[in-house]
Amino acid sequence: MNKYKPRVLSGIQPSGALHLGNYFGMMRRMIEYQNENELLCFIANYHALTVNQDQKTLFENTFNAACDFLALGIDPEKSIFWIQSDVSKVAELMWILSNHVSVGLMERSTSYKDKISRGLKPNMGLYSYPILMAADILLFDADLVPVGKDQKQHIEITRDTAIKFNNNFGDVLKIPNPDIDSDTELVPGIDGRKMSKSYGNTIPIFDSEKKIRKCIMRIVTDNADIDEAKDKNSTLYRLYSMFLDSDGRKNLSEKYEKPGLRYGDLKEELFEVVMDYFSPYRSKRGELITRKDYVFDILKNGAEKADIIASEVLARVRQSIGINYKI
Ligand code: ADP
Ligand code: TRP
Repeated sequence: MNKYKPRVLSGIQPSGALHLGNYFGMMRRMIEYQNENELLCFIANYHALTVNQDQKTLFENTFNAACDFLALGIDPEKSIFWIQSDVSKVAELMWILSNHVSVGLMERSTSYKDKISRGLKPNMGLYSYPILMAADILLFDADLVPVGKDQKQHIEITRDTAIKFNNNFGDVLKIPNPDIDSDTELVPGIDGRKMSKSYGNTIPIFDSEKKIRKCIMRIVTDNADIDEAKDKNSTLYRLYSMFLDSDGRKNLSEKYEKPGLRYGDLKEELFEVVMDYFSPYRSKRGELITRKDYVFDILKNGAEKADIIASEVLARVRQSIGINYKI
């Protein structure tokens, strides 16, 4: 008997170089999921339009994000991998869903409020960003959505919207669940806040050795004396732990409890660990970046497969609301 494979879906915005927060919060988990699940993964370039980028930068960030994912292990044989705008049906579903989302719900979006407070000019794209995200998820009948904690509210909005829609039109949309891992839900940036492209506090996965070293050396630490025990809630400790197995973590924990630990030495160590960890992926990425046609073939092929699912779901939605010709 064929076992039902849950459908796992997530996306990432091409709005800058991908970083350790993206990797541990979402990318690594997606890559692990592809063996036991049906995996759908896309580069959210429509969402990235909410961040001001010129044509060349958006295109480069999109291609680079695709190379990053492929280098890190997304396997086009085992998953469906595409660029969001290549299945533009998502924009149609977004419009339909917009009619079932209250303005009050949008106004409560913490990510919207955060962006406004950082000085972004609020246009309608930014405002309705969560409805586009709901459409991304609902258009593909996703069961599970792996994301970091910052996206939790967006998944709740998606669920609320789908439930409301189903209450009006019957059992049309599948209700998805968030998949947030408590160990990696909030990877700290070098300044201690959430690591984010928009805060300029990231450690990029695939930048030059020099840049990565510089970022690691800038991780904020306290001024505890060399013979004092050190704080295990600190950014450096939390970042380093992400790369360690249970023995490694025990070891690090002991180092923090004993006197003699120098933050500078530990940062050097972390730098080596990060470079070693990503070294095989780095060479694969170097190769992919020179094979544009090959990468875009994978993405076009993924879009064709994604479009088949999207067409079925959208036909169901259109039928349910009365805009299909079929009676
Ligand atoms: P950014 O905030 O850098 O722009 P995105 O919003 O594109 O990152 O996030 C892509 C995915 O990576 C999302 O699932 C998001 O929750 C996750 N993610 C981003 N930053 C972190 C972080 N610091 N810790 C955990 N997950 C993160
Ligand atoms: N908003 C998400 C982020 O910034 C990216 C995203 C767009 C997404 N559509 C999605 C994530 C659908 C999960 C599912 O991280």
